[in-house]
Amino acid sequence: MKQKKVHIMTFGCQMNVSDSEKILLMLHTVGYESVSTVADADMVIVNTCSVRAKAEDRVYGILLTMKGELKKNPDLLIGVGGCVAQQEGEKLLKKIPHLSFVFGTHNLHLLPQIVTQAESGKRLSETAFIDDSSRFDLFPDHGGISGITRTVTIMQGCDNYCSYCIVPYVRGREVSRKRSDILNEVAKAADAGVREVTLLGQNVNSYGRKGGYGTDFSRLIRDVAKVSGIKRIRFMTSHPKDMSDPLLDCFADVEKLCSHIHLPVQSGSDRILALMNRGYTRSEYMNRIERLKLIRPDILVTSDIIVGFPGETEDDFSQSLSLMKEVGYSDTYSFVYSPRPETKAASLPDETSKSEKSERLKRLMALQSSLTKGVQSRFVGSGVEVLVEGISKKEGQVFGRSSGNRTVNFAGSIDMIGSMQLPEIIKNLQNSLLGELKVK
Ligand code: SAH
Ligand code: SF4
Ligand code: F3S
Repeated sequence: MKQKKVHIMTFGCQMNVSDSEKILLMLHTVGYESVSTVADADMVIVNTCSVRAKAEDRVYGILLTMKGELKKNPDLLIGVGGCVAQQEGEKLLKKIPHLSFVFGTHNLHLLPQIVTQAESGKRLSETAFIDDSSRFDLFPDHGGISGITRTVTIMQGCDNYCSYCIVPYVRGREVSRKRSDILNEVAKAADAGVREVTLLGQNVNSYGRKGGYGTDFSRLIRDVAKVSGIKRIRFMTSHPKDMSDPLLDCFADVEKLCSHIHLPVQSGSDRILALMNRGYTRSEYMNRIERLKLIRPDILVTSDIIVGFPGETEDDFSQSLSLMKEVGYSDTYSFVYSPRPETKAASLPDETSKSEKSERLKRLMALQSSLTKGVQSRFVGSGVEVLVEGISKKEGQVFGRSSGNRTVNFAGSIDMIGSMQLPEIIKNLQNSLLGELKVK
C-alpha cells in the first residue's frame, strides 16, 4: 500500500485529543501516517470543538485558510470531525464547498470507509449516534502506545444537561466502558512504559451508573491502582454532585491517586448554580472540598468558572470570587458565557454588557494569578516528588509534574524520564516551579 500522509489538527478538550489518537489508528489501516504540516499532507483532518462560539468560529477560519492550501495541492482531502461536525453534519458540506467529508463524534470507526470513498471523489457526512457501550469496541487496540503518561477513556457522553452546555447534544448519552477493557488497556499501557494514567470522561465520577457493570468509579480506581507499573492515577472531569463518600475515601487510602482534583464549580452563587442546572449548592460544594482537604491535606483543587451567565449580577459574580478564595484554587479555567444552539440558557434574558463581562473575567483572572502564586510558594524550600515526563525546552533540564499537578523543571538527564525524583523547589515561577536535585 502506498504510504499516504495525514495532518490532524485538534481543538477542544482531552476527549478530542484522545479521539485524534483513535482517528490516526483508524487511518493507519488505510495507509496513512501522521505528518506535522499541511504542506506535507495528502489529507487534513480538523477535529473540532463547539463548546463556545469562539471555538466554533476558529474552525471556520481554519477551513477558510485551507482554500489557499488547495491552490498549492488541488488533490488535498479535507475532513472535519469532532463536536462542530456532530452539530452541523451535512450542513457543513453545503456551507464549505471545498470540504471532502464530515464525521461525527460517534463515527471515528467509519473513517476507513469514509476516506476510501472520499479518495474516489465522493463527498459525504456520517453523524449517527451509537448510544450504547458497543461504541468502545470499534477501535483497534492502542494500549501499546508508549509514553510516560496517557489518558484512558472510561466513559463518554453526558446526561447532565447543564443549561449552558452543548456537550450532551454533540457527545450523546452517557455510556460507561467495560471495566475489564479499561483494566486491560491500563495493563498494556503499563507494560509499554506508561507510569501515570488519567481516567478520562465528561463526567467520570458517575462511571457505571448506567450499563450495570456492578462497579462504580471508586471501585474502578481501586482496581486500576492494583495494576503494577502504574505509579500515579488521575481523573478528569468529575462533577461535584457525584463526589460520593466512597470516592472521597479513595483519597484516604489509594496512595497512587494524585493529590489533585479538577472539580469545576462554574459559579459561587446559588441562584446562578440553580439556573445552570448544576444540581448542587455552594455549601454542598464546599462540604465536598472541606472533606477532601481533611482526608488529603495537601490536595490541590482546580476549577472551571463561567463569567457573565445570563442574569449574573455583580453580587453573584462577587460570590464566585469569594468562593475561589475560600477554596484556594491552584488554577481556574474561566470563560465568558457563550450562548450555544439548542441549550436552555441561550433563551434566557441577558442584560449584562460584553464589556462588563470581560471586565469581570479580568478581575477573576487577576485573583486567580495571586492565588496560584500563593499555592506555589508553599512548595519553595521543600522536596516535591516529580514523575519525570521529558526534556525541558531549557537545555540540561527535565520536566514533570508534582502529585498536585504543578509543573516542575530541574537540572537532569534523559535517563530520568519515567522515574520519580525528589527535587527541592528553589523558585516559584509564574506557571511552574524550578527545582534542584540535592546530592545525597
Ligand atoms: N464535563 C466537564 C467539562 C465540560 S466543558 C464538566 O462538567 O465540568 C468545559 C468547560 O467549558 C465547562 O466546565 C464550562 O466551564 C465551560 N463551558 C461550557 N459551556 C460553556 C458556554 N456555553 N459558555 C462558556 N463556557 C462554557
Ligand atoms: Fe457540560 Fe454539564 Fe455535562 Fe459538563 S456536566 S459536559 S458542563 S452538561
Ligand atoms: Fe469541545 Fe466537544 Fe470537548 S465541545 S470541550 S471538544 S466534548
